[in-house]
Amino acid sequence: MSNAAEIALTQTVLSRLGECGDPRLKTVMTSLITHLHDFVRDVRLTDQEWMQAIQFLTEVGKTCTPQRQEFILLSDTLGISTLVLEVNHPSVEGSLEATVLGPFYVEGVAERPLGADLTDGMEGEPTFYSGRVSDTEGRPIAEAVLDIWSSDGIGAYDVQRAGPFVSAGRAKIKTDADGRYWFRSIKPADYPVPTDGPAGALLRLLGREANRPGHLHLIVSAPNHEEVVTQLFVADSVYLNRDAVFGAKDALAGRFARHAPGVAPTGEMMTQPFYTVEFDMRLRRSA
Ligand code: BEZ
Ligand code: FE
Repeated sequence: MSNAAEIALTQTVLSRLGECGDPRLKTVMTSLITHLHDFVRDVRLTDQEWMQAIQFLTEVGKTCTPQRQEFILLSDTLGISTLVLEVNHPSVEGSLEATVLGPFYVEGVAERPLGADLTDGMEGEPTFYSGRVSDTEGRPIAEAVLDIWSSDGIGAYDVQRAGPFVSAGRAKIKTDADGRYWFRSIKPADYPVPTDGPAGALLRLLGREANRPGHLHLIVSAPNHEEVVTQLFVADSVYLNRDAVFGAKDALAGRFARHAPGVAPTGEMMTQPFYTVEFDMRLRRSA
């Protein structure tokens, strides 16, 4: 096929979209087909490579279960999830930045009182989290809801444990009248994204790391304000600037200060070293 014939084929495929009654679908598919055809021409994709790609995507599909979404993991590790987020929720200076949800969110966890201990028997160094939720003018937001989840101190989530699900490190916490929140949990460890499937195999073939910097997940919401899906990252993690899923941001990095055994901010006596981290969050008003 000459170059002119290749271009003509692309035009023929695009022309068949003329009858599509959904204008948005037509726009998306026109762009997708154009880019995919350009890609095939650009790399001069071989028969064998095309079949490998088909087999790879088939494996990705076969790896998906109700508990595991390998396509999302692939999207995460190719930076597409973060790009979609940036397109739809661009960072605005002075307000809390969003990042990827990840695969370990569990809906409907119970609310716990301010100051609750979310450790739930998880391994890890005790950490006292606190901060203030306000609007972009700095006015406190009372009763903002923080929906929190994290791995333990060795990088495993409760949902990854064998056996029946036992919730750990999760809660909804509401801010007080001054917009303040505080709770106890552990310092989350760096951990690798699941690498036992085709997305992990691709990372290895590309010579890429699988690790994410330690982080605590949060969905922050309040009436009349934009909800933000985000994470608080351990600022001194070596992976902060090389997150396998491109979700870590400097604006979301918190300084985990280490303390010798002694009195914790909650007044309790700690017999082992502990950490404190303060993280303020500003929410934008919704339109
Ligand atoms: C996580 O934050 O836990 C996560 C995010 C994306 C892919 C895998 C894990
Ligand atoms: Fe995570």
